[in-house]
Amino acid sequence: MKILMAASEAVPYAKTGGLADAVSALAIALAKLGHEVRIVIPRYYSINRDKLTKLEGALGVPVGGGEEWSAIYTARLPGAPPKNPISVFFIDHENFFGRDGIYGIPAEPDFLDNPRRFTFFSHAVFQLCRKLSWYPDVLHAHDWPTALVPVLLKFGQRTGEFAKTISVLTIHNLGYQGIYSKDNYYYTRLGWNVFFEAGLDDWNMMNFLKAGINCADKLNTVSPNYARETQTQAHGFRLDGMLRYRSADYSGILNGIDTDVWNPAKDTFIPQPYSIKNMAGKAKAKEALQRAFELPGDPQVPVIGMVTRLTEQKGVGALFGPSYGSAWSICRDMNIQFVLLGTGEAWCENEVRSLSSRLSNFKARIGYSEDLSHLVEAGSDFFLMPSRYEPCGLNQLYSLAYGTPPIVRNTGGLADTVENFNQETGTGTGFMFDDLTPNAIYDTTGWAVWAYYNRRSLVEAMRITGMRQNFSWKKSAEKYVELYKSGLNARNSNPF
Ligand code: ADP
Ligand code: GLC
Repeated sequence: MKILMAASEAVPYAKTGGLADAVSALAIALAKLGHEVRIVIPRYYSINRDKLTKLEGALGVPVGGGEEWSAIYTARLPGAPPKNPISVFFIDHENFFGRDGIYGIPAEPDFLDNPRRFTFFSHAVFQLCRKLSWYPDVLHAHDWPTALVPVLLKFGQRTGEFAKTISVLTIHNLGYQGIYSKDNYYYTRLGWNVFFEAGLDDWNMMNFLKAGINCADKLNTVSPNYARETQTQAHGFRLDGMLRYRSADYSGILNGIDTDVWNPAKDTFIPQPYSIKNMAGKAKAKEALQRAFELPGDPQVPVIGMVTRLTEQKGVGALFGPSYGSAWSICRDMNIQFVLLGTGEAWCENEVRSLSSRLSNFKARIGYSEDLSHLVEAGSDFFLMPSRYEPCGLNQLYSLAYGTPPIVRNTGGLADTVENFNQETGTGTGFMFDDLTPNAIYDTTGWAVWAYYNRRSLVEAMRITGMRQNFSWKKSAEKYVELYKSGLNARNSNPF
């Protein structure tokens, strides 16, 4: 099968969150199953052109009232099987992508021209195929930035070589839908009848994700539980009705983890590799973590780690909210050390800085660091992830793989991947709570800390159970193949 991933992020080139990990890892897993996979992303300013190969000629992209021209670069995706390599194509357009930031910068978190940037990119996806004379069976779009791809396929592009192509849209996060003034609509070159028919209309605005959900041949999100939750009013971000309407074509497929990158037995970012058979490296990682965060090197004190975007989705209000957040009382009352690596909303970064200055056992690194994120996963005793909602979540999967039981809220993919600790039977892989309140986070963290000091052998057994879990991409990629096949079959039996 020929599959083209159209995305706004893909590791190792551009990443703001788990989407980037998921796109590349899924592509690699599909290639390992023998499929022909390519990826197309924008050539952001931060992607060094010197390391890419430029294709001959320019790409003409019809948008708005005219045409934009862009260059195309290409590279081989690292980690893909040598016998079935994956080409990544980069759409290079100075005006749209030749600047700092993927979706925005701190001073302008959502670039004003984002609707035009990603409309341009979605049109470029089709032009790229034409230029390469390579037509995929499956056009796989991810989240709102490429949600227009299924819309363009359905309304206009599905002719000639694209006649048999189907579209699949993966929702990594329903909270970001790409809602903009319909003044930008002319840029899509679609007619006003399509505006309503495709479902772009959203209270007189234009909504990219809503239209993608309406038009894609098949839809999925990144865990079965989030697929159910998003069809309810509580988690549907106003699109639950639309998702219920499409429920026959909508499913949940759990993300996996890239075990070449996130594997304590091979990790080069930690001082000494470790595995179930020899856990000595974990103690070394804890030592290194305490040193990196300038905490006393005490092996007996449990370290609670966090790596996160500091946004409401991640439950940071209940944890760091000024005066009511529980991080303060957790650090004041419990004999623990707390390390945080993250960036995000300004109020939260400020609050975190203020906590670091007031508490000797709370240390934070405001910033993005791949190396440190591995050390936090490996060196911590517990990993905290109190998400408000979580489509899948990769960090809790990494922490399980590194023998660091996660403390999570019972929501989305967290509920699908973590089993709550049962201190009677000694079973479970993490600690879970239902309500997102400062008290619930406090109590559940307290429970984990209590278990650490009083049921140590059970906690050690729990680490091993976590490390034994199998979250390989292979299983998930097989499910995507089934989804692609069911879309292609449905289309072949009903081509119009
Ligand atoms: P989301 O995509 O919603 O942010 P996930 O848990 O799916 O949540 O994925 C987050 C990814 O981003 C993980 O790979 C995590 O390690 C990484 N990450 C988030 N913040 C940072 C940071 N400050 N430094 C390094 N990596 C980070
Ligand atoms: C999103 C979600 C996260 C998921 C990731 C990859 O960023 O917030 O839960 O793991 O996408 O699918």
